[in-house]
Amino acid sequence: MVNRQRIEVASNRPYPVFLGVPLEGLGDYLKTRSLTVDNILVISTPNVADRYLDRLLAGLKDFKADFISVPDGEEQKSLDRIDLLTSEAVSLGIDRSSLVIAFGGGVIGDLAGFFASIYMRGIRLIQVPTTLLAQVDSSIGGKVAVNHSAGKNLLGAFYPPLAVWTDFTTLETLPWSEFQNGLAETIKHALIADYELFSYLEKYTEEIKQGNSAVWREMVTRSLAVKVKKVAEDELEQGARALLNLGHSFGHALETELEYKGITHGQGVSVGLAAAACLAQGRGMLTLAELNRITGLLQGFGLMTRIKAGTAERLLQHMQTDKKNKAGQKILILPKGIGQAMIVKDCTDQEIIAAWQGVLQ
Ligand SMILES: NC(=O)c1ccc[n+]([C@@H]2O[C@H](COP(=O)([O-])OP(=O)(O)OC[C@H]3O[C@@H](n4cnc5c(N)ncnc54)[C@H](O)[C@@H]3O)[C@@H](O)[C@H]2O)c1
Repeated sequence: MVNRQRIEVASNRPYPVFLGVPLEGLGDYLKTRSLTVDNILVISTPNVADRYLDRLLAGLKDFKADFISVPDGEEQKSLDRIDLLTSEAVSLGIDRSSLVIAFGGGVIGDLAGFFASIYMRGIRLIQVPTTLLAQVDSSIGGKVAVNHSAGKNLLGAFYPPLAVWTDFTTLETLPWSEFQNGLAETIKHALIADYELFSYLEKYTEEIKQGNSAVWREMVTRSLAVKVKKVAEDELEQGARALLNLGHSFGHALETELEYKGITHGQGVSVGLAAAACLAQGRGMLTLAELNRITGLLQGFGLMTRIKAGTAERLLQHMQTDKKNKAGQKILILPKGIGQAMIVKDCTDQEIIAAWQGVLQ
């Protein structure tokens, strides 16, 4: 049974995820924790700050709160931006008794989280996620990072926040293509660990697309509960947490082939889920009916299950460099029925090529 207001994340440093709470309520929560917080630094982007900063700051009126705006975009997850944040934070007097609020999507969560993890050897952090992807996925689990020219998320840390504060109403202004990115992860969560969530998504596809808030609440709550569970089983990503990579090895290969152009991360994950499902069906881990349900659900949300992107052989090659592989062995996550997944280490190149052929146009 999922608690609908608060879920604890079991971790080296356990922390609560608050669900469906108003942005204005964060200040009161901080007071109840009797933390000594001299000043608060909110880091956000214009898209979020223009719409929601006033609401957040209204609740923080009894604290000294400063705000730093970071432009949008994945390229902001960089050491250059950390350098700039550091200069700004120093001039604002941010010190070890301060608290950082990462207020935005996954980019801000990763960037501001990484900044908090290294500024003065680590200052306190609260995640306030405002995209669907950040609410169901990136704000939970403590992974924070910036990119490097040699790789995405190459410089990072496991840095659990003090709390995650999730106000579902922020999703009302999220563009549909961003919402789809979070939906792809939600369908992945359902596939690896929650059959009921999968059926719920099938049943309420139209309500979700129309923005029914009660349905959103149920969907987000169940989806993030899967992430919380997997993180609790394996905080440092040495086993069970790897299941969260379902669809991602295929998805990354696609993004590499397309040089990250013309395909969103969510669409890449979606085709990746379809490819993993094809492979699983070929191995007898899924029935044809289950495969059709998976592709049908993805398509129901306008997510792609087929794509034009090079050849199966080239995509296989991109998968050879996947960082999850060990000693030349390709490690894949595959669905086993709907609601379970497995780590599979013995897929042949022929099977992977056949799976790619199943999703290539
Ligand atoms: N740390 C982790 O465990 C983890 C997991 C998955 C993804 N990630 C990272 O997450 C990032 C992607 O995050 P994302 O998909 O949230 O993208 P994002 O942070 O770029 O946000 C997407 C867009 O939505 C805007 N936005 C945010 N909230 C809004 C709102 N409520 N209303 C209107 N617009 C809003 C943003 O300004 C941005 O333009 C990637 O960098 C990825 O590496 C991290």
